[in-house]
Amino acid sequence: MFAMSKQDAEQVSEAEIAVHWGEEKLIQPSPEFIAQANMTDEKIFERFSLENFPDCFKEYADLLDWYKTWDLTLDTSEAPSWKWFVGGLINASYNCVDRHLAQYKNKAAIIWVPEPEEESHIVLTYQELYVRVNEFAALLSDKTGLKTGDRVTIHMPMVPELPVTMLACARLGVIHSVVFGGFSGNACGERIADSGSRVLITMDGYYRSGKLLDHKVKADEAVKTANKEGQEVEHVLVWRRYGDRNASEAPMVKGRDHFVDELLPAYRGKRVEPVQLPAEAPLFLMYTSGTTGRPKGCQHGIGGYLAYAAATSKYVQDIHPEDVYWCMADIGWITGHSYIVYGPLALGATSVMYEGVPTFPDAGRAWRIAEQLDVNIFHTAPTTIRMLRKAGPDEPAKYNYNFKHMTTVGEPIEPAVWRWYHEVVGKGKAVIVDTYWQTETGGFLCSTMPAIHPMKAGSAGPAVPGIHPKILDEDGNEIPRGANKAGILIIQNPWPGQFQTIWGDQERYVETYYAKFNKDPKSKDWRDWPYIPGDAAMEAEDGYFRILGRMDDVINVAGHRLGTKELESACLMVDAIAEASVVPVNDEIKGKVPDIYISLKPGFEASDEIKLAVVKTIEESIGKIARPKNVWIVPDMPKTRSGKIMRRVLASISNNQDVGDITTLANPDIVEEVRRMVQGK
Ligand code: PRX
Repeated sequence: MFAMSKQDAEQVSEAEIAVHWGEEKLIQPSPEFIAQANMTDEKIFERFSLENFPDCFKEYADLLDWYKTWDLTLDTSEAPSWKWFVGGLINASYNCVDRHLAQYKNKAAIIWVPEPEEESHIVLTYQELYVRVNEFAALLSDKTGLKTGDRVTIHMPMVPELPVTMLACARLGVIHSVVFGGFSGNACGERIADSGSRVLITMDGYYRSGKLLDHKVKADEAVKTANKEGQEVEHVLVWRRYGDRNASEAPMVKGRDHFVDELLPAYRGKRVEPVQLPAEAPLFLMYTSGTTGRPKGCQHGIGGYLAYAAATSKYVQDIHPEDVYWCMADIGWITGHSYIVYGPLALGATSVMYEGVPTFPDAGRAWRIAEQLDVNIFHTAPTTIRMLRKAGPDEPAKYNYNFKHMTTVGEPIEPAVWRWYHEVVGKGKAVIVDTYWQTETGGFLCSTMPAIHPMKAGSAGPAVPGIHPKILDEDGNEIPRGANKAGILIIQNPWPGQFQTIWGDQERYVETYYAKFNKDPKSKDWRDWPYIPGDAAMEAEDGYFRILGRMDDVINVAGHRLGTKELESACLMVDAIAEASVVPVNDEIKGKVPDIYISLKPGFEASDEIKLAVVKTIEESIGKIARPKNVWIVPDMPKTRSGKIMRRVLASISNNQDVGDITTLANPDIVEEVRRMVQGK
């Protein structure tokens, strides 16, 4: 959905609600779940009311170990960049590893499940994790000279060496920027350049759908792209999938590339004291897509982020140290950072990681893993739930696992899919939370508290403790609470998990997330800076929020954000193309996927070669996840009189919807021509 006017937003929501999403019935959590839950006290919402803001968040920060407690809970002097727990000293690696040794030294921290079923799982106990993190931190500082405040880019798949690498960085105060392994070398290179990383940490290869993919080859492309953008990469550290052989055919560049397994023995037994860092120092950058072609490096601070990730893991995910928790996201996205690595490990839990495709080699794989490891908390995205349902709707019943709790995240879930998740995957017993949040927010914004609120299919639930949303109209007027009317979602107050800025672009940060409803740009009062996540939403009478989708030029593909501008600029790299326009088209499994419209420069003829060139260029510049559903070569784009391409019209055509009023267009006739081409009638 693009820059929706108020009227558009209302049309979309009313249509969606009328067709698919009537009010669903409420389902209560079971007494067994409530009896063991971490949070059953409804008073938490009073404790986290706006009157008690910001000091209420002490309750979350107290879940962590501090070298020195903070003097000031919230510093607003650089509004709207909020600093939490100022004066406090902390280390995230210490909190996720060292502090658990006394009690849980011999307990599994990470259980890694390789994709090939014949390979053994790897279990890292907290002691083993401690040793590996220390040795790799020693290697990093010695071999690469990385130190507090430097950035490092990590482009790795789902292997246990990834959290080891992240925690080693956190130990040194080195700011990590993990790039999703499925992104292309070029996309990685752009992020290396933007973050100013002079070290890249990668992997030789990994398994997907039974194939050992060459991943190191992307590192070479990444370094090339970074160089072109003026960033030199001095060191490329390459972890190997198998210690004794190479999964990549890409040559190692002498002096630049090093196999980690060859360097590590020199650091055996080395220990690195965790650096005592200011709470507000950056922990990591996580790039996400926005309205312009350039991805944004969302900067998260240590103390606030970790407190929020730990508390929401404890109270919303209901993680106890004795649970076996499996989040099927990729660590290359924010969900993996907060809810595979930092949140669960801060609580001393056992976090399961899976290398590959959930339906490989067959539709029962995920449930076999759950049965074998006795997983009792399961966390995934609607796109995966749809895929699992399609591949094997009756598979879960064949396996003897027991989920007490399940999560859905990243995109709206249709009630029918939710019901399958509840009845078949959760066997009617597991409680479900639908968690709404973003890369920028560090942790959940809306979700039911699983032992306090009933569940409602298709609704993210009320705001979590300490989050105070409102829905506004285009002019900033409040839509009355519980009115069931669509509008712009805002959060009235800051919270500790929130990102601090966009790396190197404070102006874009203020402009994108705050400017619209701020009346005084000089104000140091948080009340003047409502946060704008960029989603349309509506609040039902019972206070449950339904998220209707993005209001900016972002497409949510399989729960991953892709900027339409990023895709369009990739298309324009193909010589024949004059103009490109990218719109979201509904997809049964992935929620939305991009449909691409292109027009050609004079002298070029439409051909399959051009279409293929577009697909290839997109895969190379962004990655396979951005692969379009269709490429349509059109004689011209529908345009306004001022020459703006009407994406809304193209989106309606792609989705077989009514194109609405087109009389004001400069070229209304083209609409019918394009419609016939796409819809074939
Ligand atoms: O549009 C919302 C959608 O995903 C966006 C955030 O994407 P990203 O930063 O990649 O993070 C995804 C994982 C947290 C949001 O702006 N979204 C996220 N969760 C939900 C959702 N839409 C509906 N329901 C959700 N539970």
